[in-house]
Formats: sequence, structure tokens, C-alpha cells
Amino acid sequence: MPDSDINRPEGIPDRPYLIVLGNEKGGSGKSTTAMHIVVSLLAEGYKVGTIDLDARQKSLTRYIENRRKYCSKNGLEMPMPRELVVPKSELRTADEAEADEKQRFEQAYLTLAGNVDVVVIDCPGSDTYLSRLAHTAADTLVTPVNDSFVDLDLLAHIDPETYAVQGPSLYAEMVWKARQRRAVADGGSIDWVVLRNRVGTLHAKNKERVEAVLSELSKRIGVRYVSGLGERVVYRELFLRGLTLIDLKQQGGIDGRGLSLSHVAARQELRALVNALNLPFRKAKVG
Ligand SMILES: Nc1ncnc2c1ncn2[C@@H]1O[C@H](COP(=O)(O)OP(=O)(O)O)[C@@H](O)[C@H]1O
Ligand SMILES: [Mg+2]
Repeated sequence: MPDSDINRPEGIPDRPYLIVLGNEKGGSGKSTTAMHIVVSLLAEGYKVGTIDLDARQKSLTRYIENRRKYCSKNGLEMPMPRELVVPKSELRTADEAEADEKQRFEQAYLTLAGNVDVVVIDCPGSDTYLSRLAHTAADTLVTPVNDSFVDLDLLAHIDPETYAVQGPSLYAEMVWKARQRRAVADGGSIDWVVLRNRVGTLHAKNKERVEAVLSELSKRIGVRYVSGLGERVVYRELFLRGLTLIDLKQQGGIDGRGLSLSHVAARQELRALVNALNLPFRKAKVG
């Protein structure tokens, strides 16, 4: 891949802020976190666009489509993002396919650019050209990881005896290259945030070790480590209706059951996560 690849079209005044959810690991919570960030920002009044690069699973897009259907069926007015999907190219040669994907990625961004404040991009759990384009263009890159050394292995090599970080591994190297390409292309930088997803209350020792590794990583490879979402049913049970816990207040809870303590805790968790992203446009508004 040429090193000068940049994919965010130039010449757009006040271009939308770009948040990318990425991790080469499937099932780490990218799409779930993406949807919760999208709805949080919508609820604050921002106009949000989404680009789904996981055209095979399309989890984020399906989530949004479910929301649209649920609202129209129940006569509800809810804030909606504008969602786009960019599938992989079917062109034969690698060069042709990359040129095609780059063009379609840029087109998607351009389509949203005049209409939204923020674009949230959900990447597939594998290393694809489209995913690299998104990483290079990101203003904020959000990487959810599960509390597991299998997940951390993609970020860093870790000593099995001492748990010391020996150096960056696959995904961290990919992000490093994306940062270099970005710096060359427009002098921009990528704020990389790693957050733990599905944090449970059990296995305290493992949790402590994962936490220690993540804080060491943050010093070594220029990533901010923030706490993410806990393991909670409410983060997955509303998918079919396209809702999140942010919408529950308006709905009066789930199926008339009202808001539980766990929902309240989840709201706080999610609010803390979005705050920890330190999104500059949001800071300007929040003050
Ligand atoms: N914080 C959470 N609590 C409970 N379930 C979760 C949480 N985050 C993700 N999940 C579930 O884990 C699975 C994988 O999440 P998903 O967001 O699809 O990951 P990815 O997009 O990285 O592949 C899904 O079944 C999702 O509902
Ligand atoms: Mg996904």
C-alpha cells in the first residue's frame, strides 16, 4: 500500500469529526460501543453519520435499521443517524480494488460531510484496506478490548512470567503506521483510546493484571487507556428494537418495567466513557 494514502477529502470547511471504532479482533465490542456513542451524541443534539466498513456483518447498520423500523411501527420520533455502508471492492487485482475502495470511502465521507457534525466508522475485526483508510483518517480511534490476554496479544507482546510489556504487536504496529501516514498527509494526529469492554466483577486478579498491562501500554505506545462498559444485558438486549439505554427514559424503561439500578449504573458508565473520549467539539459545547 502506498504510504501517502490519505482518504479524507480536502477542501471541506468545518469537516465532521471522525471517530473510528477499530480492533482486529472480532467480538471485542466495536459495533456495540459504536452504537452507544452514536446515540449518546444524537441525544446531545449532534448530527451524526455512520459508515459501516463491516459490510458482511453490518451490525451497526442493522442496529440503526432496527431503530428506524421500531420508531415507525410505534409512531415514535427519535433522533437518527444517517447510515452508509461501504463494502469491499469486488475488482480483481489488488491495485484496482484498493483504488475502488479509496474512491468509495471518500465518496461516503463526502456524502455525509455537508450534513453531519460527527462521523462514526465501524471497522471489521480484520485487517482490510478499508479499515486502514479509516484508521489513517481518524481523529479519535476507539479500540475496545475484552479483559483477556488473547485480546491484548494484538496490542502488545507480554512476558508470561512478569506480565511486562515487551513491545507493540500486530494491531499497535498498524496504528503506528496509520499515524505516520496521517502525519505525512496532513500533519494531523490520531487520539488513540483503548477501553475495556464487558468488564465483569469476577476474576479480580486477571482484571488487575490486564489493567496493569494497559497502563504500561499507554506510556509505551501513545494510547490513552480509559474505562469502558461493564458486562451488562442492557448493552445487548435492545438491539432488535434499535434502542440503547439512553432511549429508555423516554420509553419508561423496558416493557414497562422502569429503570433498574443496573440501567442507572450503565448510564453513568456510558456517560463516563463518552466524557473520557475528550471530543473537542463536545468540550466546546459542554464548556
Ligand atoms: N458491554 C457489553 N455487555 C454485554 N454484552 C456485550 C457488551 N459489549 C458487546 N456485547 C456483546 O458481545 C458480542 C460482540 O459485540 P460486538 O459489538 O458485535 O463486537 P465487534 O463489533 O467487535 O465484533 C455481541 O453479542 C454483543 O451483544
Ligand atoms: Mg462489529
